[in-house]
Amino acid sequence: MTQDELKALVGRAALQHVVPGSVVGVGTGSTVNHFIDALATMKDRIAGAVSSSVASTERLRRYGIPVFDSQDVQGLPVYVDGADEIDGRGHMIKGGGAALTREKIVADLAERFVCIADESKLVKTLGAYPLPVEVIAMAAAQVARRFAEQGGSATLRPGVLTDNGHPILDVRGLVIADPVALEAEVNQWPGVVTVGIFARHRADVCLLGTPSGVRTIDF
Ligand code: 5RP
Repeated sequence: MTQDELKALVGRAALQHVVPGSVVGVGTGSTVNHFIDALATMKDRIAGAVSSSVASTERLRRYGIPVFDSQDVQGLPVYVDGADEIDGRGHMIKGGGAALTREKIVADLAERFVCIADESKLVKTLGAYPLPVEVIAMAAAQVARRFAEQGGSATLRPGVLTDNGHPILDVRGLVIADPVALEAEVNQWPGVVTVGIFARHRADVCLLGTPSGVRTIDF
């Protein structure tokens, strides 16, 4: 199976976690695009979605799925999203698609985070994938220097501004032994909008696409 077929497999499998009649939290990325395609087959059985990006909103609306503003809902039973890396405890690196800030906001509204990913995303220790960090532009060099002190090499993602109008730093060379601690620390650095470590709010379950089927990992 190709990587895209594995993504489609878990995108469809995530439908089992959608609560009928509810508003669904929807992430961003190529795996989530498959989830949205699958969600369209049950669009008459959900109230709608809260989306984490302009791209996902457009895809949901093309299917006629109502998209609610995150400020108009008080909570969501489930948030479904992909990951760039996920470890054995459900901690993730996210933001490869530059949607990390809105993803963290919508995920925080949800009771359960359902991560959908192909098997290449499962790692022992986070950090081989460059860590995305959304920053206020004037702080980019300062934040990059702080990462250098931690052994990381941060570069601006060329030609990319987030849906919020900010640049992204990609940080290479980190071995993230304690994701909860690093997330908390980087969150305090002036100019950081969002760090792409999802550890304080980690996945509750991961649907991992493998050639022999969907492997469910509960955390
Ligand atoms: C977007 C994300 C995505 O979930 C992550 O990059 C995985 O993407 P894909 O499903 O395309 O592999 O965090 O900001």
